[in-house]
Amino acid sequence: MSELFGVEGKRVLITGASSGIGLHLAHLFAARGAKVGLAARRIERLESAVAELRDAGGEAMAIALDVTRPETFAAVFDAFEARYGATVEVLVNNSGIIYIKRFIDQERAEVERLFDTNLKGAFLVAQEAARRMRSAGSGSIINVASTAGLRAGGLLASYAASKAGLVHLTRVMALELAARGVRVNALCPGNIETDMHAAFRAEQIDDGVLKRIPMRRFGQPGDLDGAVLLLASDAGRYITGVALPVDGGQTLSWM
Ligand code: NAI
Repeated sequence: MSELFGVEGKRVLITGASSGIGLHLAHLFAARGAKVGLAARRIERLESAVAELRDAGGEAMAIALDVTRPETFAAVFDAFEARYGATVEVLVNNSGIIYIKRFIDQERAEVERLFDTNLKGAFLVAQEAARRMRSAGSGSIINVASTAGLRAGGLLASYAASKAGLVHLTRVMALELAARGVRVNALCPGNIETDMHAAFRAEQIDDGVLKRIPMRRFGQPGDLDGAVLLLASDAGRYITGVALPVDGGQTLSWM
């Protein structure tokens, strides 16, 4: 069982690894013997995370990455390859931002920044990874979307649209890349308690969210572990193009 979900020795690049879900997943993979690249803008945070992972016996490296700067992506992947000797086998395409505002109040600069990060950024990072994986003949890309990309929710117009776009991009990528050995899936977390989630909760007018989660609790980053290991490992070898909700059942309910 553990071998089936094994990621030992796998080369894994995680974007947005300086906090929240990305940082948690860096710990998950490193603890299971993967060679992990932690990429994000806040390099000092990444360096201290890497030191912690190495102290615990893991293999990790920090790479500065701003997903709104596609001209830097080739250098990011080159640095990863230089360190680990071959290209990325698993990309966790996780960077993201959120604005919680009514549709009519969202400002143009915010809308542009959000799409540049969550959709265009994710698209072009995935493209860079896919080109290299295709040459290598295998790989798994996990696009971190959201249940907000599957169902409508108030105050999330740009965020929800970007995540719906990422879900659909996942399907097209999966279709085009399947024959080249590259699997592409979308992970759709529900309410997972991180900084982003705290910001979301602080702005919420309606406090009934918890009542709409059949399991009656918010998720923790660790609740994503099983789904991520499934999609990353050989256990998921025949799975591509899915949008997998990990949400305590929230997307089942219409109210
Ligand atoms: P977070 O705010 O802790 O993490 C977001 C990460 O993305 C941070 O490391 C941040 O530095 C990075 N990031 C933002 N802009 C970037 C840029 N231009 N270049 C590189 N990195 C950038 O939030 P959380 O919750 O860990 O979010 C991670 C992902 O999970 C996001 O894509 C988010 O949309 C998604 N998600 C989170 C949910 C939740 O309830 N926490 C629910 C559904 C999806």
